[in-house]
Amino acid sequence: MKFLLQLMCLCLADDANSQLICSHQPITVLAGDDVILPCHLEPPISVSDETVEWTRPDLDPKYIHFHQDGRLMFDHQNPSYYLRTRLFMDGLMTGNVSMKIFKVKVSDTGRYQCALPSLQKEASIQLIVAQSDVIGSDKPVTVTVGDNAILPCHLEPPSDMTTQTVEWTCDKTIVHVYRNRKDYLDLQDENFRVRSGEASLTSLLSQRRAGTKEVRLMISADVMGHLRGKGWLERGGLVL
Ligand SMILES: *[C@@H]1O[C@H](CO)[C@@H](O)[C@H](O)[C@H]1NC(C)=O
Repeated sequence: MKFLLQLMCLCLADDANSQLICSHQPITVLAGDDVILPCHLEPPISVSDETVEWTRPDLDPKYIHFHQDGRLMFDHQNPSYYLRTRLFMDGLMTGNVSMKIFKVKVSDTGRYQCALPSLQKEASIQLIVAQSDVIGSDKPVTVTVGDNAILPCHLEPPSDMTTQTVEWTCDKTIVHVYRNRKDYLDLQDENFRVRSGEASLTSLLSQRRAGTKEVRLMISADVMGHLRGKGWLERGGLVL
């Protein structure tokens, strides 16, 4: 009897002693990336059969991922997270209740609450989704007629643009359009045809991925000469 009691106490103590630990540091990620919000029970206990609630109290409906009976309950989920979240089934067996969010948006920024109601555990974690700024050149780019010009432009912090859209325009005239690994040369104004194609964005973006600092576009100098001083490279001139 005494042994049984001790055993019961041990079991209770196990649940009671186990702490739900989420990262105390805010998790910072760039818009478009995937992120894992790390949370786990320490010491580990299996929560495979438990209800796991990920919520954002500032939203309505507040449920980001409601895991019950071994699966995600879609009816409870806030629609803006539809098909963008997952828990790790293997992880649940070792008390790992981390949640992954795919393709984060700036609006995903907020404090996330993770709760295991049956174990009366709760912890929270802050997610910050940052948008890169588009940085051009403060000074006008000056070249002589007939030369090639490079208009420097990059994202700060750097972000992989390979599958994004890049548009270069000048007074609403389309200079160059790049979308998801392809240059759309037929969209560009005829004054810019061929010339900007000289250095295709596709190849430049692969350089970018390889660590080059700038996304560059070449256009020829007579156009530059013609339009010089019109403030080409204002911030936001590169529209994502
Ligand atoms: C929990 O699982 C995630 C996803 O597999 C992993 O990144 C993280 O390191 C795990 N955490 C712990 C404490 O094992």
